[in-house]
Amino acid sequence: MAAGKNPCDSALAAIVSSSDYDGELASCADSVRRKVYSDEVYLRGLIEISSYCRNNCFYCGLRAGNAKALRYRLSKDEILTACKEGCELGFRTFVLQGGEDPYFSDSFICDVVSSIKRLYPDCAVTLSIGEREYSSYKALFDAGADRYLLRHETADDAHYRKLHPESMSLQNRKECLFALKEIGYQVGSGFMVGSPYQTVENIVSDIRFLQELSPDMIGIGPFIPHRNTPFGSFSCGSADLTIRLISILRLLFPYALIPATTSLATIAEENRKKALISGANVIMPNLTPLKVRKKYEIYNRKLSSSLESAQAVESIKAMLADIGYRAVSSRGDVKR
Ligand code: 5AD
Ligand code: SF4
Repeated sequence: MAAGKNPCDSALAAIVSSSDYDGELASCADSVRRKVYSDEVYLRGLIEISSYCRNNCFYCGLRAGNAKALRYRLSKDEILTACKEGCELGFRTFVLQGGEDPYFSDSFICDVVSSIKRLYPDCAVTLSIGEREYSSYKALFDAGADRYLLRHETADDAHYRKLHPESMSLQNRKECLFALKEIGYQVGSGFMVGSPYQTVENIVSDIRFLQELSPDMIGIGPFIPHRNTPFGSFSCGSADLTIRLISILRLLFPYALIPATTSLATIAEENRKKALISGANVIMPNLTPLKVRKKYEIYNRKLSSSLESAQAVESIKAMLADIGYRAVSSRGDVKR
């Protein structure tokens, strides 16, 4: 439903209009998350499998047009080694994320996914490799992939056009998301907060689109500029508005898996805790091999150390205990 059509839209817009942190909203969201998920926080091991991308989103450092980007792709062995390390560290979900790299054929990804599922049958595999054909999504699901992350980025057509080149379309993005659901994936979507030209009405449309899609996972994070993109001179999105939106999303989607994202922690480390006490219930530490980790630069200053690293799992558990939560070593499927 478009913004303006629902009588509650103006109330929602009013809540989103302030970008201050709202402690009362946060504690309402926290009590809802505790009713569904108790004090559990799910850990996902993030493996960034390729920094190549055929697309040219204006906001992203991995865009094909960024000639200065450092490119790599992981081999099957490197991915499996990262999973082995992750499993030993206690991770039971692996998120394979990458740009839209044409090198990653269905047969390559299917082979990787089925190998992970054979070696680690109690682990979930999440894919985050962009827009593909229905038949491709189906083949990957049949090979054992459990979940798929594909942010819609913005649900407003005119805003979508300002963030993407002509070759991309919001309609195709939405069709991909509904296809993923139909196939049977646990689906994640989401958007950037404070992306260039974004209005409060756009954010209301994003929330309304999420209600229509009813995803299992919702990832949002502040926009952070990358110097070698057309949006290099725009400002960062607001971390406090992002956290406010996490609370609103928790109230609207009590069952959702909502991560405290890397971009939030990149703006300031304390935002990770703030997001968790305001409704977020997932963190995604990085398991990408250290020798390439810095090359996956979606935006500048992206955190690649401290609590962002899967190897710091003990510190992550201590941080969670410190704020009243418990890291659990399970797949962490959606409870709906
Ligand atoms: N700032 C913040 N998030 C970004 N993403 C891409 N570029 C940026 C940026 N400059 C997000 C997009 C994408 C996800 C993998 O990273 O939402 O879906
Ligand atoms: Fe490619 Fe995704 Fe970056 Fe767009 S946001 S350029 S699709 S990696």
